Amino acid sequence: MTFWGNKSVLVAGGAGFIGRHLVEAVLHSGSKVYVLDDFSTGQEEPLKALDQTNLIVQNCDISQPTTLPQVDIIYNLASPASPVHYQSDPIRTWKTNILGTLQLLEAAQTYAATFVQASTSEVYGDPLSHPQKETDWGHVNPVGPRACYDESKRAAETVLMDAVRTLDADVRIARIFNTYGPGMTASDGRAIPNFVAQAKTGKALTIHGDGTQTRSFCHVSDTVAGLLRLGEVPAARGEIFNIGNSVENTILEIAQEIVALFGNGNDIVFENRPVDDPQRRRPDIKKAQDLLGWTPKVALREGLMTLLDRDEPVLADTL
Ligand SMILES: NC(=O)c1ccc[n+]([C@@H]2O[C@H](COP(=O)([O-])OP(=O)(O)OC[C@H]3O[C@@H](n4cnc5c(N)ncnc54)[C@H](O)[C@@H]3O)[C@@H](O)[C@H]2O)c1
Repeated sequence: MTFWGNKSVLVAGGAGFIGRHLVEAVLHSGSKVYVLDDFSTGQEEPLKALDQTNLIVQNCDISQPTTLPQVDIIYNLASPASPVHYQSDPIRTWKTNILGTLQLLEAAQTYAATFVQASTSEVYGDPLSHPQKETDWGHVNPVGPRACYDESKRAAETVLMDAVRTLDADVRIARIFNTYGPGMTASDGRAIPNFVAQAKTGKALTIHGDGTQTRSFCHVSDTVAGLLRLGEVPAARGEIFNIGNSVENTILEIAQEIVALFGNGNDIVFENRPVDDPQRRRPDIKKAQDLLGWTPKVALREGLMTLLDRDEPVLADTL
């Protein structure tokens, strides 16, 4: 029996993009999964397509008091992740990341469960160091329009690390960098699904800024593999890890690659850059490589090919 074969696992935010892939992987291992999700950005239909034998889905807002099931491992992925969504109701974003995380942490303490937090590279803000190591304190505008997300994720990390120090809580934190893959929605405004939808429908690709800003895109299969390692490796207890791909590309390079793969000579147009948009992002993943034995495997072109022949349901809904 492997580590994952006989666990009970709660995935808050399990109806979202990364959550659904994580739920599928955990179910595949034979473990039981409870999904808690309010479906604010997540979708119920793809979960219905999974084997229901070991899957329980509950519609619930984690920022509101609720009774949580007894489990071995809690994954907290519940949070709007795209600027369009987290800025549409910033107070709600705060409540989800602060009150929701606290409630899940209390359940983890009650049940002596492992708690894996989906944090974000946004805790580094517009970073002063490059590439970003886990020891970087970040460079975040605390009152800007992105702060509801960046600062609430930072505050969640604070309370979780306080719990490690004062309660001996079994917490593991993943600072996830930009992740892409099948199942993203074009309507959420993130670069890759946006570009793919525009390329497939013959439209011009819209870049915010001049395209020289960089990101490091990680395929969702690699991100999920990293999250699973965080849950299972004892040395991850009380630690923070960058989970991302360390290959860095400009946004313009990504757009050009997507036109080459999905488009037909589409134009690329440039629009105003959002406030506080970071200029460079690349994770230093040495800690994850050393302690988790995890390294991303999927190269960008190979990863983009996983989007090639898929008729993403939501890609059609906005464009
Ligand atoms: N996708 C990325 O590139 C990326 C990068 C860094 C961090 N993350 C983190 O990973 C997690 C998942 O991201 P994603 O891309 O899958 O986002 P997503 O928006 O697709 O999924 C988030 C899920 O959380 C649910 N949710 C939101 N608020 C909730 C609440 N109050 N109660 C219950 N459920 C709630 C949504 O309905 C959705 O199913 C998030 O915590 C995000 O901050 C993602």
